[in-house]
Amino acid sequence: MTTAASTADVFARIERERDTYLETLIDYLRIPSVSTDPAHTNDVRRCAEFLRDRMAEAGLTAELIETARHPLVYAEWLGRSGAPTVLFYGHYDVQPPDPLEEWRHPPFEPTIEGEQIVARGATDNKGQSFAHVAAVSAHLAERGELPINVKFLIEGEEESGGESIEAYVRQDAGKRLAADFVVVSDSSMYGPGQPSILYGLKGLLYTEIRVRGPGRDLHSGTFGGAVQNPLDALAHILARLRDPESGRVLVPGFYDDVRSPQEWEREEIRKLPFDAESYREAIGVPELRGEHGYSTLERVWTRPTCDVNGIWGGYQGPGAKTVLPARGGAKVSMRLVPDQDPRKISEAFTRHVHESTPLGVVVEVEVGHSAPPFLVVPEGPFVEAALRALEDVWGKRALLVREGGSIPIVSTLHEVLQIPVLLIGFGLSDDRLHSPNEKFDLPNFYGGIRATARLLDLVAARPS
Ligand code: BES
Ligand code: MN
Repeated sequence: MTTAASTADVFARIERERDTYLETLIDYLRIPSVSTDPAHTNDVRRCAEFLRDRMAEAGLTAELIETARHPLVYAEWLGRSGAPTVLFYGHYDVQPPDPLEEWRHPPFEPTIEGEQIVARGATDNKGQSFAHVAAVSAHLAERGELPINVKFLIEGEEESGGESIEAYVRQDAGKRLAADFVVVSDSSMYGPGQPSILYGLKGLLYTEIRVRGPGRDLHSGTFGGAVQNPLDALAHILARLRDPESGRVLVPGFYDDVRSPQEWEREEIRKLPFDAESYREAIGVPELRGEHGYSTLERVWTRPTCDVNGIWGGYQGPGAKTVLPARGGAKVSMRLVPDQDPRKISEAFTRHVHESTPLGVVVEVEVGHSAPPFLVVPEGPFVEAALRALEDVWGKRALLVREGGSIPIVSTLHEVLQIPVLLIGFGLSDDRLHSPNEKFDLPNFYGGIRATARLLDLVAARPS
């Protein structure tokens, strides 16, 4: 193995250009690329064009790839034949910003508060994935070339299903997307100043349950007792999803394919610094609750869950209304772990809901989007290079961690391209992603740029 070039020249360039990177990030964050909301379709496209233009300015060949919904942004620099190729993945779309009244400043008017930038998308995922772009840009500006080949595939639907990228990656089948490894920064570090490499993400299964009873709302005195109340039925169905005492999901077969955490893993998790009391305090619950027999980190990282995300029906206004509602419903999601199969779980779930439904109402289960779980053994030359890059920047060895969140395309990239996927998050657990006042710590933004720049040099040092 040849030794890695020093990255001091590129680090110095990053230092000189830090304000330029920040200004570009601010402009990027100003574009309300809310992918789930049709009212923002043009903003989403404008955002894709903005990103494409910035990548072209950096010296990459960049273009939009049209899809059935929002465009993909693709860019490449392939000037080093024989050298390894990295594929950077990220997303330029964001979650809806509501509730708006809880933001200190409007969500698409980025605000610097001390060492943080506050805006929707700051950490998830514009700030984090733009760090990759800035790193490549700094290398090209400083040296006129890159130490390895790079490709970028940035999608505009991660927060709303991601069907387009899924179709694109499968039909490409590793032709244009051929690479030696993938880098994704769309997750968190274990704590401030503590770099981390993620080796597992949960899968997801999103469902909606709808219960219908009488053809119209009824007077609860003149008809009460004569019909099954749909909301009572719904409450009964939901109460049978999970046992509040043991914390176990009650859908038959739910745990059949769950791979238990390995002993080495439980050991590693036990060794991590974790302060349950400040964790509890930070989320504002009276007590931490979950599946019996597992610690909090094991529950969040390694055990599947089932949660009601929304519930509706009946009278919600002020005062009282004596009524039997005609219908009601709930959104229920499940976070899955290896080797649970979203399709199999969705059948088991639907059957269970039907079996739990009292007579006298009609129930309907709609299965929405899903994502398979992702888990790898964190080892190999690219993991080694990433560990070193992170240590060179943060002065600390990275921890190996899992997360409870999902990034749907990650398992597809791994499966189709058959190459290692490095998940290196630069966010923090208090970044408030999907919540009001989402933020990204600027030291993590700049650290992310430096770590990515360093990684390119370290990978180049390996014989390909
Ligand atoms: N960046 C997150 C996923 C994430 C969050 C990973 C925290 C690790 C730690 C991503 O943008 C996200 O929010 N994904 C959605 C996927 C869903 C909409 C299909 C999620 O997890 O809810
Ligand atoms: Mn997200």
